[in-house]
Amino acid sequence: MVEMYRLPQDIKLTGEFPGPVSRALGQRRSAAVPASVASGMPVYAVDADGGVIVDADGNSWADLGSGIAVTSVGASAPKVVQAVQEAVAHFTHTCFMVTPYEGYVAVAEKLNELTPGNFEKRSVLFNSGAEAVENAVKIARAATGRNAVVVFDHAYHGRTNLTMALTAKAAPYKKGFGPFAPEIYRAPMSYPYRDEPTMDGKEAAQRTIDVIEKQIGSEYVAAIVLEPIQGEGGFIVPAEGSCLPWFRGLVRRASCSSRMRFSPVSVVLANGLPASMMGLNLIW
Ligand SMILES: Cc1ncc(COP(=O)(O)O)c(C=O)c1O
Repeated sequence: MVEMYRLPQDIKLTGEFPGPVSRALGQRRSAAVPASVASGMPVYAVDADGGVIVDADGNSWADLGSGIAVTSVGASAPKVVQAVQEAVAHFTHTCFMVTPYEGYVAVAEKLNELTPGNFEKRSVLFNSGAEAVENAVKIARAATGRNAVVVFDHAYHGRTNLTMALTAKAAPYKKGFGPFAPEIYRAPMSYPYRDEPTMDGKEAAQRTIDVIEKQIGSEYVAAIVLEPIQGEGGFIVPAEGSCLPWFRGLVRRASCSSRMRFSPVSVVLANGLPASMMGLNLIW
């Protein structure tokens, strides 16, 4: 059998929780990091591989967090480790806008291949998910000459000012941090667990389109920002598996009837893989 993992895939607890090394790190942290940056676990990671994460006291835990579900490629996948080590041995930063390099182009090519849709694509890379979403909104506004951005109930898009406005939940993301950017409109999205049991995906999409048409006016809409599967909002899988085919169809119909014109811009978060549709923001 091929050995897949560097670390034993075992849960191993050595004694106290948290152990003495993690407790000491916790004290250093309290003196150096603001209390508002909270962590779910009081132990400090030193290694991770496959399904386990090892803490500073040598305890081995089942890694149920996985970077909030974004390290789907693995915590220390050998190919990723090797590629990063090779890259930083040559240079850590040139700024692509000053001196370009092949790695940027190769990542863009891969994203164009992996993201949904069979049309000509281009990709641009940013430092974080929130910055990617902000820039997609800027691009959509500049391209359409319109202002309104439609987002959904329970959506999460980040912690910068614009993405806080796009995000639904007040606490802990927005409370006390306003005022927020204007021209953001919230619409309902399919939520099979809470919608009427008789409501199917098509009806839920129609409800969304009706809100857009009636409350905003589709001719003012620059972009619709959508998580195909909502994450922070409660892991909501919309009706009919993926909402995209029927929603895209309805958006197209709305385009014909009311001059709504959208071209899809996919925003994949820094660590995200589009295959899972989690951490993917689609912007029409
Ligand atoms: C759907 C979605 N959009 C945006 C973001 C923000 O990404 P970042 O934290 O890299 O700014 C996240 C982060 O979890 C996310 O899940």
